[in-house]
Amino acid sequence: MTDFKRKVIYQIYPKSFKDSDGDGFGDLRGVTEKLDYLQDLGVDDLWLTPFFLSPQNDNGYDVADYRRIDPKFGTMADLEELIAEGGKRGLGLMLDMVFNHTSTSHEWFRRAMAGDEKYQKYYFFVDGEGGQVPTNWQSKFGGSAWEYVPSLRKWYLHLFDVTQADLNWENPEVREELKDIIRFWKDKGIKGFRFDVVNLISKPDIWEDDAEGDGRRFYSDGPRIHEYLQELMRDTGGEEMITVGEMSSTTLEHCIRYSNPEEKELLMCFNFHHLKIDYNNGQKWELMEPNLTALKQLFVEWQIGMQEGNGWNALFWCNHDQPRIVSRLGNEEAYWYESATMLATVIHLMRGTPYIFQGEEIGMTNPHYTSVSQYRDIESINYYEILLAQGKSKAETLEILAARSRDNGRTPMQWDDTAYAGFSETEPWIEIPDNYKMINTAAQQYEERSIFAYYKQLIRLRKDNPLVADGDIAFMEEDNPHILAYQRSLGEERWFVWNNLTGDQETVRLPRGCEHHRIILGNYESADINQEKCEITLRPYEALVLSE
Ligand code: NOJ
Repeated sequence: MTDFKRKVIYQIYPKSFKDSDGDGFGDLRGVTEKLDYLQDLGVDDLWLTPFFLSPQNDNGYDVADYRRIDPKFGTMADLEELIAEGGKRGLGLMLDMVFNHTSTSHEWFRRAMAGDEKYQKYYFFVDGEGGQVPTNWQSKFGGSAWEYVPSLRKWYLHLFDVTQADLNWENPEVREELKDIIRFWKDKGIKGFRFDVVNLISKPDIWEDDAEGDGRRFYSDGPRIHEYLQELMRDTGGEEMITVGEMSSTTLEHCIRYSNPEEKELLMCFNFHHLKIDYNNGQKWELMEPNLTALKQLFVEWQIGMQEGNGWNALFWCNHDQPRIVSRLGNEEAYWYESATMLATVIHLMRGTPYIFQGEEIGMTNPHYTSVSQYRDIESINYYEILLAQGKSKAETLEILAARSRDNGRTPMQWDDTAYAGFSETEPWIEIPDNYKMINTAAQQYEERSIFAYYKQLIRLRKDNPLVADGDIAFMEEDNPHILAYQRSLGEERWFVWNNLTGDQETVRLPRGCEHHRIILGNYESADINQEKCEITLRPYEALVLSE
């Protein structure tokens, strides 16, 4: 399986993609309705976030039955139709496997709570000495990572919400159950899987307090992680699937192992270091201006490191947990088109497989909510209370949520300028940003100069030029924090990619060998190149790609 390097993957958050039955909630038939649009964009595979039976406390990442479809999203027949219709258009389907934890509504957990010891061993039920919580670890959604069950006189571990209990991968029976789930979906014609927070599945042998942090250093890339992934892939025919792991607080060394083909683990991984460059002291809930120097350093480190270690990156800016990138690193007002297309260029021409999150291809923005009642996400609602309790004012707390909430990426897809943005015929489950009248697919799909058209070009470049998928990467302008620039090369061929990360004009040197260049792509009508002085002037948020 090497063609994954040529692929572009599109992420769908079904709840917010298209509502086909008028309940304000997106569904599987809605996805099928929009397959022609996705085919026109030119993407290859579709990763759908979870639509399995779930109480929806964490929007489906709390799975109650991995083999059943939540009626809110449709039926198994709807999914089969989607697989078949996708197949006709060359679009493969990837499912999201949430194997670090199950919902506490899952039958395994319910049996455990009823006293069945077999199922208690599926999770981490631990005696707390003298009624004490086993460790001081924190849940990623705030509060303790342990919950006490008086009837059992035990605590159970939940790294996320209290209704998401961590599975015990040490237990071989758990591993067999999970392999069966993969086989079940493969038999249905599913082509690949995204594994949710998969580097958290291997917990340490002893429970100990973390004197330095929230516990993550004990279980991120845990002791048996590589063994578990190898086993999972070996026993489910992993080499036939597109596989990507979501890696939380990971390291380059581990990601090389996760994705180097010789290790037989995954094809590629997501890491999040480049999306913490506006976290103050690493704290998501403390605002800071983006540190562009850090951003550049991280790209250099990960691109060069993965290349040297023969690993493979999943390239992305946006997903259902992240604010919109044009609102975060771009300028959604004065340079909306320029900054959205520049940011796309940065990602799509690096070494790795790019992911587009629904709406990114039309430059969707954060909704800029101003009241806590507009939020739906459990993490945002928890943190609203936590930040107020820390003494922050209401206005400051709302400003932080507006910048950092996961709901920023979860607003409905903006299809047109009619009521509810063509997403639904009724009021959606979450409010649509006012700008849908201007930012929508209908306004862009057939325009020559649009963010959508630019994404199409980027996708096409990868298909038509082996250099994009297979070429080496080397960075240029390393000391200039405002310019992210790199060369890609394959055999005799060489491309130069410049991206101005700022709203200011910047002049850069034209590298030797580039005098007789050809313009491959740019987000301004023409390039401002001074051959005599061997210089290029990059305008605000300009992206420019030249070949030698
Ligand atoms: C990562 C998912 O992307 C996020 O949405 C979810 O809340 C956590 N994993 C827990 O499953």
